[in-house]
Amino acid sequence: MDKREIVVSGIRSTGVLHLGNYFGAMRNYLRMQDDFTCFFFIADWHALTTHPDTKELSASVHRVLAEYLASGLDPAKVTLYAQSEIPEIAELYLLLNMLAYKGELEKTASFKDKGRQHPENINAGLLTYPVLMASDIMVHRAVKVPVGKDQEQHLEMTRNFAQRFNHRYGVDVFPEPYAFNFGENLLKVPSLDGAGKMSKSENQMATLYLNDEDDMIRKKVMKAKTDGGPTEPHSAKPDYIENLFQLMRLVSAPDTVRVFEEAFDQANIRYGDMKKQLGEDMVRFISPIREKARDLEKNKEYLHRVMEEGTQKARASAAATLSEVKKAMHLNYR
Ligand code: TRP
Repeated sequence: MDKREIVVSGIRSTGVLHLGNYFGAMRNYLRMQDDFTCFFFIADWHALTTHPDTKELSASVHRVLAEYLASGLDPAKVTLYAQSEIPEIAELYLLLNMLAYKGELEKTASFKDKGRQHPENINAGLLTYPVLMASDIMVHRAVKVPVGKDQEQHLEMTRNFAQRFNHRYGVDVFPEPYAFNFGENLLKVPSLDGAGKMSKSENQMATLYLNDEDDMIRKKVMKAKTDGGPTEPHSAKPDYIENLFQLMRLVSAPDTVRVFEEAFDQANIRYGDMKKQLGEDMVRFISPIREKARDLEKNKEYLHRVMEEGTQKARASAAATLSEVKKAMHLNYR
């Protein structure tokens, strides 16, 4: 039997993936695929909590899968699937809902944020979003969850549900999962307008998507917020300038970053030059992923095959957990 630590993570199929998804999640998936037993999925049920229109859903799910593969995930090493193909997740979700309290769900930051964004659709799925996410993780009894900083609270809730289950039913079925980021701080990829982080739906001109055309990438970077530059040497960087440097550190050569760091420190930086350089380095980074994802998206037969294999592996793992769960709860009548 495979004794490696179990890893689960997912991305919602609500839009095109962006640089924040890449550096917050996907880059860690890539670094984990050789050393852990990895389950990476597309959270299409979670997408329904805020995007009830399903006309584009299957195209979005295929696109996320193509972007996973284009970024370098290898279906021979990791298990790839869509959440909705695994009924055991829904079953565990139902059972965990009885261990989740209204009060703790209502005070979850993501619930409050999404409620504010969609006051006309504060549905029960949105309220129990963290329970579904806990089910995604617990159904494979995962211990490591590569996610960005914004998911910390959901992970903490998952640990609570796992403990509560074990305690209530006097078993040790569920380990406690933790967010994982190779010992670095959980990364947040800043948006180009100096306000907040890159996002699938908000501030599209300030977010770099993995399917942006080269000219669009350059254009977005050139529009990033700057100012007249520091007026004296050794100044502190304003947030929006620090953000540009942070983006540069992600995709540019260390020497390049150093040149601009020094120019800033000497108060003779030219932000136009810096953004031109950053634009080119972003194009170099994004365009191969974009092109590969587009080719893969056209190859439906291949995508279906990857999903079919992934679904089978994921269901086998999930069914084993559910059988332990039902035994622990005495939900076995025959
Ligand atoms: N909530 C995550 C997000 O918005 C997506 C997600 C759903 C997830 N289920 C998960 C991430 C399980 C990790 C593990 O990004």
